[in-house]
Amino acid sequence: MKQLKFGVGLVGAMTLVALAGCGDGGSSITATPGSVAAGAAVRSGEEVYNNFCASCHNPGLSGAPRLGDVEAWAPRIAKGDALLLETTIAGVPPAMPPRGMCFDCSDEDLSAAIQYMVQNSQ
Ligand code: HEC
Repeated sequence: MKQLKFGVGLVGAMTLVALAGCGDGGSSITATPGSVAAGAAVRSGEEVYNNFCASCHNPGLSGAPRLGDVEAWAPRIAKGDALLLETTIAGVPPAMPPRGMCFDCSDEDLSAAIQYMVQNSQ
């Protein structure tokens, strides 16, 4: 029987939910999760993005489509979620590394991060 390591991830996720629940309405939520425990079971897309993807996708490093850049994302979003997940897992040579360099991310974690990027870029 293995002890599950849900604790930290769940608390983080619940904090985010709690914060999101507090605002009344559309004001932007700027909560940044403090830390990601290695191997935590539950991670939000925002958390994964901030920790692993933002370093390239915020500044648009080496042609990375920037978060919030509607024009850069449109043709990528058009590929559909499944294909975006595939290219993320495989990487896009030369500049987009396989799994966005989050090697302990599950496919679900990566998918959540992509959703976060897509939702904030259209
Ligand atoms: C080392 C820099 C770097 C990191 C880290 C990185 N990316 Fe990227 N990403 C890129 C670049 C550059 C491209 C553009 C590749 C191209 O189209 O030539 C890209 C493209 C993408 C695309 C579009 C792929 C497509 O098919 O058009 C997705 C989705 C994506 N990244 C997701 C992620 C996710 C999710 C993470 C974090 C888990 C991540 N990236 C981390 C550099 C990075």
